Amino acid sequence: MTVLVTGGAGYIGSHTARLLTELGREVVALDTLERGYRDSLGDLDLVVGDVADERLVAKTCRKYDVDSVIHFAAYKAVGESVSEPLRYYKNNVSSSIALVETLMANGVNKFVFSSSAAVYGTPDSSPVNEDAPLRPQSPYAQTKTDIEHFLRSCDAIGLRSVSLRYFNAAGAHDSGDMGEDFSLAANLVPVIMRVLFGGQEQLEIFGDDYPTPDGTCVRDYVHVSDLADAHVKALDYLATGGKSLACNVGTGQGTSVRQLVEMTESVTSRSLPHEVVGRRPGDPAAVYADPTLIRAVLGWRATRDLREIIASAYRWHERHPEGYAR
Ligand code: UD1
Repeated sequence: MTVLVTGGAGYIGSHTARLLTELGREVVALDTLERGYRDSLGDLDLVVGDVADERLVAKTCRKYDVDSVIHFAAYKAVGESVSEPLRYYKNNVSSSIALVETLMANGVNKFVFSSSAAVYGTPDSSPVNEDAPLRPQSPYAQTKTDIEHFLRSCDAIGLRSVSLRYFNAAGAHDSGDMGEDFSLAANLVPVIMRVLFGGQEQLEIFGDDYPTPDGTCVRDYVHVSDLADAHVKALDYLATGGKSLACNVGTGQGTSVRQLVEMTESVTSRSLPHEVVGRRPGDPAAVYADPTLIRAVLGWRATRDLREIIASAYRWHERHPEGYAR
């Protein structure tokens, strides 16, 4: 019995695949390597290809005796999704539908989906729980919402799924040998690391006039290894007959951009050059999770704090200044 991890060579996928292996589970990764790195997987089995390739997926399911899937493979850049909607809908929506079709045809009916807190758009208030209305504000967020709805419809044909709505994934593996590629990411922690290691001159803080305690935006940063653990718990939940579910994966703790800057300076003993600039369009003031559901149903809670997020990301970049080899 093997877990198929699509997008397994990506940031969260590789951490999850590694955790599963550490726990003694059989794992096979499927990744196009368009944005993933073979090196992130060590000696774990990797099939290079696309989730929409019916023959390849069917063959992989048979060869590895796949019985459940964690589906990470998708594009995730909000700005890019606005300028390239076709690519996003094709890769994130059409390909996911094709994947589910092939899985069902091959008797695989347990599915964990990499969703996002972006499905809530700008919530009316935080902490946000799963009953909040879904109001995606970008093509990227819409593709995640669409697949969540599609998965719920597939209950009728015997699919059972857990959609995990990640808040802000950050940090790196404890070993210092796996982490995030900061070259393309526009997210806060990778940008901070780029300032410390990658030659970006300074961090631009997008606005300090929000209605938050220090005026900068508040988010819920979750350590990538805690996120990986949420996937394992979701698989176990499905394996023991759990019903389809969508739940938040967040700490419940809000952190402002300024607090993150201060934490970075404290953890690294380096000063982080920064400047406040104008707001980034579309940024909600404060978004953090109500993690009650995931605690109750999956027995998951975050075990690593902000300090560990920064320390682990820093360790990874310090040890691997060039990231993974291409
Ligand atoms: C973004 C996406 C979200 C996606 C998530 C994880 C948007 C509107 N939302 O969330 O859909 O699921 O990433 O990939 O793009 N910040 C700065 N300076 C920077 C970068 C960020 O001040 O150079 C601030 C932002 O204003 C924000 C916070 O840091 O308040 C976090 O930003 P980011 O890491 O991009 O995550 P989100 O915007 O929360």
